[in-house]
Amino acid sequence: MATFGQIIFASMITLIVIFSALIILILALSLSGTLSEVISTNTLPVANLGEDQLLSCFLSTKGQPAGLTDVAVTWEKTGLTGLVYRYQNGALDLADQNSQFKGRTQLFLDALTTGNASLLLRGVARSDEGEYTCSISSSGGGGKVNIYLRTAAFSAPTFKFTNGTLAAEASRWFPKPNVTWSNYDRLILPGNTSFTSNSAGIFSVVSTLQSINVSDTYTCRMENDLVTGISTVTVAGTDVSGNTYFTYSAASSLPTSTYLSLTTSVLYIYYVT
Ligand SMILES: *[C@@H]1O[C@H](CO)[C@@H](O)[C@H](O)[C@H]1NC(C)=O
Ligand SMILES: *[C@@H]1O[C@H](CO)[C@@H](O)[C@H](O)[C@H]1NC(C)=O
Ligand SMILES: *[C@@H]1O[C@H](CO)[C@@H](O)[C@H](O)[C@H]1NC(C)=O
Ligand SMILES: *[C@@H]1O[C@H](CO)[C@@H](O)[C@H](O)[C@H]1NC(C)=O
Ligand SMILES: *[C@@H]1O[C@H](CO)[C@@H](O)[C@H](O)[C@H]1NC(C)=O
Repeated sequence: MATFGQIIFASMITLIVIFSALIILILALSLSGTLSEVISTNTLPVANLGEDQLLSCFLSTKGQPAGLTDVAVTWEKTGLTGLVYRYQNGALDLADQNSQFKGRTQLFLDALTTGNASLLLRGVARSDEGEYTCSISSSGGGGKVNIYLRTAAFSAPTFKFTNGTLAAEASRWFPKPNVTWSNYDRLILPGNTSFTSNSAGIFSVVSTLQSINVSDTYTCRMENDLVTGISTVTVAGTDVSGNTYFTYSAASSLPTSTYLSLTTSVLYIYYVT
């Protein structure tokens, strides 16, 4: 049976352990408060072939004002010899830049002191597809983030209405999309779609829908594994107006290395009486 002294002793030990745990927790919280991390607003961008694409990368600092100094940025591509881009010691350092990226890349130098190291890639080609790593180091901390760039071709269709038939014509799609027409009630309507491909393998798409009812609204959906273009088309008299927006698929068949890995830290309090 425990004596009064033993109970007091055990209580004291318990209190000491609880207070130690609290102090460790507070220290951990205040330390993580000054930590910085490198993040991207889009780690899975889909670039439109031939157009420019921004690869987003920036340093996010908690409670630290802008005005970073000693900023160094390196952009690399997995499997590539040399670099995509490098800025260090206050200047561009493109000596090791791979020829694939010569004259096609740009950093926003004015934005570097705010931690923005986003890279503009001009005239995206299919060979640009792959995993990029953006590394930042600065007076306010640093880190790295991986971005997986995918490429596709997509363009908004234009619409024509003649003799009761509504036609959607889109000049650039890759991979080959499918086309689905539906009415305001989301009922699928039978359309006729044909494709022609150019020498670069890019498809032009023509899809028609017959027996249109004037002053109705229709939806034309062009979709492949990467991009979906949704057009809302309103026919009024002989006028036809269409509005298109694009959505991009999230992870499809990506290498597992690009998936987020979560780390969980567990604090064990080991107490033996
Ligand atoms: C970084 O700069 C680019 C180019 O000015 C801009 O488009 C982008 O929104 C900026 N990103 C952040 C997080 O400020
Ligand atoms: C318009 O449609 C009508 C009936 O559907 C058809 O007889 C006529 O040939 C069509 N005209 C044209 C220019 O396609
Ligand atoms: C598709 O086109 C063919 C040939 O032009 C035509 O005979 C058929 O009726 C069309 N089908 C639909 C659903 O518009
Ligand atoms: C137009 O309206 C008629 C009658 O409501 C319907 O049968 C037809 O499917 C409609 N056409 C289209 C393209 O929705
Ligand atoms: C169209 O293509 C997408 C992506 O490849 C696919 O998920 C969808 O099932 C297809 N839809 C039709 C109606 O074939």
